[in-house]
Amino acid sequence: MANSPSGDSVTGRIVRVLETFTTERTSQTVAEIGRRAGLPSSTAHRLVAELVEAGLLERDAARRVRLGIRLWELAGRGSRALGLRQAALPYMERVQARVREHTQLAVLEHGEALFLERLSSPAAGANITRIAGRLPLNASSSGLVLLAYAPDDERERVLAGPLPAVSPETVTDPAELRARLAAIRRDGYVVAPGSIEAVSTGVAVPVRRGSGPVVAALSVVLPRDAPTAGALEELRAAAAGIARSLR
Ligand code: PHB
Repeated sequence: MANSPSGDSVTGRIVRVLETFTTERTSQTVAEIGRRAGLPSSTAHRLVAELVEAGLLERDAARRVRLGIRLWELAGRGSRALGLRQAALPYMERVQARVREHTQLAVLEHGEALFLERLSSPAAGANITRIAGRLPLNASSSGLVLLAYAPDDERERVLAGPLPAVSPETVTDPAELRARLAAIRRDGYVVAPGSIEAVSTGVAVPVRRGSGPVVAALSVVLPRDAPTAGALEELRAAAAGIARSLR
């Protein structure tokens, strides 16, 4: 890719533009995009116009810019996330129907838990998880499971810190976290009350590909003091079903 006089590549600038969008910040003006991506105004206008032309970005009626549905279309084609989500959905729906709280599927992605799917009931309690959103590995129940089964070098990188505190109950002490992860590998699940929010408890299990490596975490978010045994049983049955269909 051709480089600009400042030395950053076209691809790098496009990625910076796309990354200014978050699960909370879904529409922006071109000026906001340019500022957040660290681009001169003229470059931001030109790049955004080109990306709109290509369908990777879209403009709404107020000329604010959003991620284009074409980007979603391309990302969905044969990505590892899509196959996993498709295999998991029927089992997630069963968990959801029986537990009637939030059910999530997450994968380990660049040192965080990335959520591929979330099912919820209208009456379900609090949950900050967003589809295509991320949570720290040391805080969310899914993250703890993903970290417990992560390759050694990746786990050590996370344990070396910093370990962010999402709530006062998030485990941020490396030694305590290490012990917690060993317990997860021993038990095959985690129950994490208050680790993200005081009002809820995350329960998560690993999802394997057949009898092979852990490829995802399946979790439910329950009200803090709800019983967890029934949900855990459903999660385990679902994870076994997903593992068989991924084989
Ligand atoms: C969790 O996975 O532990 C979790 C996620 C989102 C919440 C609460 C708990 O809002």
